Amino acid sequence: MSKQSICAFAPATIANLNVGFDILGMALSTVGDKVEVTFNSSSENRILEIIDGPEIPTDTSKNCCSVVIQKMQEKLGSTEGVDIRIKKGFPSGSGLGSSSASSAAAAFAFNELMGNPFSLDELVLFASEGERVACGSAHLDNVAPAILGGLVLVQNQNLIRLPIPESLFAVSFFPQVEVKTADSRNALSKEVSLEISSNQSALTASFISSLYENDLVRFSESMKDLIVEPQRKKFIPKFDEMKESAFENGALAFGISGSGPSVFAFANSKNQADKIESELKLVFIGSNIETRSFTEMVHGNAGAQLSTFS
Ligand code: HSE
Repeated sequence: MSKQSICAFAPATIANLNVGFDILGMALSTVGDKVEVTFNSSSENRILEIIDGPEIPTDTSKNCCSVVIQKMQEKLGSTEGVDIRIKKGFPSGSGLGSSSASSAAAAFAFNELMGNPFSLDELVLFASEGERVACGSAHLDNVAPAILGGLVLVQNQNLIRLPIPESLFAVSFFPQVEVKTADSRNALSKEVSLEISSNQSALTASFISSLYENDLVRFSESMKDLIVEPQRKKFIPKFDEMKESAFENGALAFGISGSGPSVFAFANSKNQADKIESELKLVFIGSNIETRSFTEMVHGNAGAQLSTFS
């Protein structure tokens, strides 16, 4: 071990992407979390500081970062404790992969601190343990892109990197109400009709083919959620108005980001994306709900990386 203190950044992510509940996720670049880990010359892990996350637990058995690190220590047989500092870049319950950004940054930083004993794909599995403690389910669709970057398809534990059209811009729009992932998951029916399942499979397959063929018309026609959106949109204020506004302003696709309340839209130019973003803001004028949003090009977005804790 050459270094005693390491900080990593991991980005926010859009999970599900309408056609891939629990199996598709995309890295963003504008916001994310930082986690710093430092050997503390004891056998205990400690959460030293959490910046901008008053709701995040400091109990090491409940904090996603310390849980991820403990799993990695167990696998390595390491008994050296670490101090953990966390800097949240966006709120939990936003639908932009808050717990996964912290879990991914913790896994990446601790791996670096230990001399990189694990591959990036292995880090995704460790980071998913942070999702388990944060929301009761170890799904990989946020943590995979948070670590690997780009757009990732999760097939069981196989992580398949997918191409992203170069001209694609994403608008992430967060109406600031909290939707807990656990509640949003519990609201979903466990049953889907054969007809809907078949139609959704066709849309998912069509979406994947559109990426390889750089076909934004097919991308747009395919990116429809027949299963989850109808059940979750009630948690999201003004969902139908936002969707209508996005499509009226040229969105290629619109949907719920992860478990919400954030929504996303895709556009094929920066101007179009900016227009969609500004019109979505207008939907909330006169309401008492504050919003936060950002627009970015998504091709080439990186995953977890070394950073400085500032
Ligand atoms: N796939 C997850 C869900 C993402 O929709 O519940 C949220 O973490």
